[in-house]
Amino acid sequence: MTNNNIVWHEPSINIDSRWKSNGYKSSVLWFTGLSASGKSTIAHALDKYLHEQGMHSYVLDGDNVRHGLNKDLDLSPASRKENIRRIGEVSKLFVDAGLLVITAFIAPYREDRRQIRDLLGKEQFIEVFIKCSINECERRDPKGLYKKAKKGEIKEFTGVSAPYEEPENPEIILETDKFSKDECVKQILNYLVENKYVSASAINQNNNP
Ligand code: ADX
Repeated sequence: MTNNNIVWHEPSINIDSRWKSNGYKSSVLWFTGLSASGKSTIAHALDKYLHEQGMHSYVLDGDNVRHGLNKDLDLSPASRKENIRRIGEVSKLFVDAGLLVITAFIAPYREDRRQIRDLLGKEQFIEVFIKCSINECERRDPKGLYKKAKKGEIKEFTGVSAPYEEPENPEIILETDKFSKDECVKQILNYLVENKYVSASAINQNNNP
């Protein structure tokens, strides 16, 4: 739906000037992975660390966003697509505001994630595959959802009765069944420094996660 009477208003502060005053480049770390793969755990640990270093970050978390902005959406394929589309748009606004955004959604469809990559642009979208075997996710099952899904009490459960399309070329792969939470956070920080999103001096080497 387009409205010809709505005209784009160019902001008076551009993104480069926000980056300059902040001392780092805002972007989205787009986590994707199965339920119980560790997305929220790593996202919040990373957020805490960045905050402690004086950076502005924010986690958009699937379960939390579904309590508010997206509480009208269920887990059907069409609703999942809309869920991810809205989060992509919110992420873009947050990146414009100068934040390091961390999103923690299953985001099971490759095509949906590709659209967010196009929306944000190559540099501002960092896809992070939270890789964990389905067996390990089922073993963890912190919310008891795999158990319910196996009994048929939850329909279209990702990895059990609904698809999960693994990323083909993610910028970062975190194997949460092989590395600890802190090691995973460190791998992301290394990526951000190596690719000049943040400076090495912004990361306190004496205060490792
Ligand atoms: S997404 O597919 O649209 O990206 P999202 O990350 O927002 O999913 O929400 C998934 C969360 O909803 C899971 O962490 C889990 O707690 C819960 N959930 C409830 N039903 C399902 C389902 N059918 N499939 C996957 N997750 C579900």
